[in-house]
Amino acid sequence: MSGETGNSGRPCAAVVLAAGKSTRMVTDLPKVLHEVCGRPMLAYVLDACREAGIERIVVVVGYRKEDIIHAFADEPDLHFVDQTEQKGTGHAVQICRDALDGFDGNVLVIAGDMPLVRPETLKLLVETHTRGNSAVTLATAVLDEPTGYGRIVRDAYGNLQGIVEHSDCTPQQLAIREINPSYYCFDRKLLFQALDNVRPDNVKGEYYLTDALHILIRQGHRAVAITAVAAEDAMGVNSRKELARVGKIMQERIQDRLMASGVTIFDPPNTWVDARARIGRDTVIHPFTYIHGRVTIGRRCSLGPFAYVRDGTKLADDVVVGVFAELKNASLGEGTRARHLTYIGDASVGDHVHIGAGTIVANYDGHEVRRTEIGQKAFVGSGSILVAPLKLEDGVHVAPGSVMTQNSDGNRDANNR
Ligand code: UD1
Ligand code: MG
Repeated sequence: MSGETGNSGRPCAAVVLAAGKSTRMVTDLPKVLHEVCGRPMLAYVLDACREAGIERIVVVVGYRKEDIIHAFADEPDLHFVDQTEQKGTGHAVQICRDALDGFDGNVLVIAGDMPLVRPETLKLLVETHTRGNSAVTLATAVLDEPTGYGRIVRDAYGNLQGIVEHSDCTPQQLAIREINPSYYCFDRKLLFQALDNVRPDNVKGEYYLTDALHILIRQGHRAVAITAVAAEDAMGVNSRKELARVGKIMQERIQDRLMASGVTIFDPPNTWVDARARIGRDTVIHPFTYIHGRVTIGRRCSLGPFAYVRDGTKLADDVVVGVFAELKNASLGEGTRARHLTYIGDASVGDHVHIGAGTIVANYDGHEVRRTEIGQKAFVGSGSILVAPLKLEDGVHVAPGSVMTQNSDGNRDANNR
């Protein structure tokens, strides 16, 4: 059934909080659109929800909401709710009441600025919640440096008593290292009942979502906290520095996944691969290679050192892209080699083509980007300029230093110097 998680039966919806402006990012862009390894950070959170089996996702937007809605326009499973004024996390969830009206199940609430969230953790959270038949379940993390986070307060038996915001903590509470990374699962009905009673009586004057939890505990409902979030995953993005830190961890995860699937990466810290790139087994990536965008690379290819492979590029099997080679929106057929100092943009290159050192595909005439086609087994001599639009037939031989402005038209020995 749609929206069900695990075997436990109750459907689960998600509310993703993404309305905040983020002063500390010093940005005109909504924070959740800042990219982590090539994708907006919000995309990772949404995917984690989907992979955890959640099919109904409500995203709370506010600051520059049009940009966010536009960025995710082709994802029909998302419902956007507009929080015109950011009055706090409790208020942000409260305004989702209509979007979840009639939904009989659980509601996962999570922040949109924590892209390191893992689907397994969300799944465990939802399953624990359903199995325990609780009103609310939290997944918490234990940090060496808990500054800034809400602290988890438990009684002598370990039972959850509540969450105290950093700014409201006593000195004893400040020493608590178990924190709230904002992974919640609520019973929908009880959540909205509790939110009706939340008041903004705290240091910040905001409606706190954490107060809904206190209300449920006070009313005697079952509230459980499981320590299930790895410290690393709890890292949110609130500044450019944190964006870089989270990006580095995400990059490690991408490369670990690739290496586990049979890709050799000689120097991981000096290699960068977009989250959207797909790379076949036994491909070897040499240091200082940068792969950005939707790129597909076949098996047994060799990239770099110092290769720059850009969006839209497709490499078949056994392709060699060597030192100081830049490829953009180009497809290279099986066994094709572009070993040194080259730019290939907006081109379809056949199988077993030799692209000599210093070859440039001049794809832009100052007004328009145009395409170049190169047939099978063509030979392009060093230092040639291929001026698009251009079509070179199969087996054509371009002499070194040529400036090709006309199609080869079956003239197998093209030399336009
Ligand atoms: C919140 C939690 C805190 C937790 C911390 C990190 C509360 C009261 N406190 O604090 O316990 O340790 O997150 O997870 O919830 N947002 C909206 N609309 C609003 C306010 C916030 O959409 O009106 C969004 C923000 O864009 C952000 C998320 O909610 O993605 C968290 O809000 P933020 O203001 O950062 O909460 P914290 O003070 O960090
Ligand atoms: Mg925050």
